[in-house]
Amino acid sequence: MSLQKFPNLYPAKQKPMETEKNHSRPVEESDVKDNSRRDFLKKSALITAAALTPVAAAKAAELHLDERIAGVFEKMPLNVEINGVAHNLMVEPRSTLLDILREQLDLTGTKKGCDLGQCGACTVHVDGHRVNSCLTLGIMVNGKKVTTIEGLAKGNQLHPMQEAFLKHDGFQCGYCTPGQIMSAVACVREGHANSELEIREYMSGNICRCGAYPNIVNAIQEVKEGGLAI
Ligand code: FES
Ligand code: FES
Repeated sequence: MSLQKFPNLYPAKQKPMETEKNHSRPVEESDVKDNSRRDFLKKSALITAAALTPVAAAKAAELHLDERIAGVFEKMPLNVEINGVAHNLMVEPRSTLLDILREQLDLTGTKKGCDLGQCGACTVHVDGHRVNSCLTLGIMVNGKKVTTIEGLAKGNQLHPMQEAFLKHDGFQCGYCTPGQIMSAVACVREGHANSELEIREYMSGNICRCGAYPNIVNAIQEVKEGGLAI
């Protein structure tokens, strides 16, 4: 029996399978420049180590010295005010604000949940606006003012939103709480806390796996109704 009787089973012309290569973007001149610059830095580091002694070269390779030296050369300056304190830092251009806060400055109140912009645990204020710090590159806040949960209280005096969260039991495990509070403050400042529905809508970027939502809404409503400038 001829296969040609079954054209649907054995199509004459098959569409070539799409490969990963088909989806990749064309290599740009800047990619080539970046790669050759990094290669140059890495090779220079190894050549320097090799010029010392073979033992030093082996040790350098073992410690990934080439990567480390290349990393130092690739850092960029970041001047930023965080919780009222000026910082002059050197950061990798790819570092997120979240990682800089937590890893470089030890401000671990800001939490890393999803690291994908989906949970809100990393919410901080940049020039008064709430942002997901896991989606914000550190170099994007150069010259700006950042406020984290550590900067909300005034000395021993908690911020009214922190007081309200305590009063209304707006948390259980507490992991999402710093992000919830930073978002809640912004929600009231933005004028988006006029009803339970509106609060739920404008707080929807902050996920609480413990389900403390009703108490969080109560806390925000109390602050809003208190009319304090926050
Ligand atoms: Fe940033 Fe989840 S850690 S949104
Ligand atoms: Fe546990 Fe919100 S209090 S995740």
